[in-house]
Amino acid sequence: MSSLADFSDITQRDRSLAEWTWLKVGGPAEYLVEPRSIDELAAVVRCCHETGVPCRVLGSGSNLLVRDEGIGGVVLRLSEEAFGEITIEGSTVTAGAGALLSHVISHSVRAGLVGLETLVGIPGTVGGALRGNAGGRSGDVGQSVQSVTVMTASGEQFTRSEDELSFGYRHSSINELVVIECTFALTTGDVDETLKRMRKLWIMRKATQPMAHQSAGCIFKNPRGISAGSLVEQAGLKGESVGGAEISDRHANFIVTAPEATSGDVLELIERARGQVTDQFGVDLELEIGIW
Ligand code: EPU
Repeated sequence: MSSLADFSDITQRDRSLAEWTWLKVGGPAEYLVEPRSIDELAAVVRCCHETGVPCRVLGSGSNLLVRDEGIGGVVLRLSEEAFGEITIEGSTVTAGAGALLSHVISHSVRAGLVGLETLVGIPGTVGGALRGNAGGRSGDVGQSVQSVTVMTASGEQFTRSEDELSFGYRHSSINELVVIECTFALTTGDVDETLKRMRKLWIMRKATQPMAHQSAGCIFKNPRGISAGSLVEQAGLKGESVGGAEISDRHANFIVTAPEATSGDVLELIERARGQVTDQFGVDLELEIGIW
């Protein structure tokens, strides 16, 4: 049986994760492991499985809050080249889970392909975007998926095709431990028109969201038919702060952090917003971000 010591050249002990999250707060991972190939990834995953060590995958940290005390076990970071490749064949685009969604969008648009451009401005890696079916008013990532290759917690790899997958509002049926890669089925279109559409969406997003600040995208999911941001605003919480964390005065479903913020500040603010929205409107807000 292998042990984590066998992977010491790709492992950092007690590595802070704060710099890799968009909120820039939170504690360390007991083991931060960066595999160099899919085989190496499978070996680490199998090792965790056999030795009972908890294992999670870090994307680009854009939808994640890590608690101040940090987390035990292994955090995998798919930062190496093997996980970030983007290849285009005809009108399909295959991207590694570690590739940034924004890179996949720009590669596709430059190749004259249409379908992903509506996701402009959405942060995150392909793996993270698929897991939470990232999207906005103009569509979500699931709409363009042809197949997804995943790895289970025991290190087994397989590909799920479109008809074996389902995507809902900020939800996907992908429940295996790791997303390895995804193939998107796009259509051909006019590059200039696509760029124009993208520019418009980008401007709208910049006007309504605090994009220049440290934040983690929307904190809460929208309850059916209502904007969580507008509920938090109506509860009078725009600009409310705890320590270095503040509810954005641009969009109340965003929490922005100052350099001195802690994860505890963000958690307290989340609880305050949730509590007030429940008390005033009887609506229970569900978290969109993940908390480790
Ligand atoms: N609103 C307020 N106050 C606020 C924020 C919004 O009154 O503080 C109002 C707006 O004026 C607007 C309505 O609420 O009339 C909807 O707001 P917006 O267009 O910003 O959309 P949203 O529902 O708040 C959703 C997604 C965003 C996505 C945008 C644009 C969720 C939780 N949010 O926001 O996604 O960027 O639409 O497509 O689904 C994310 O998931 O991380 C995210 C930011």
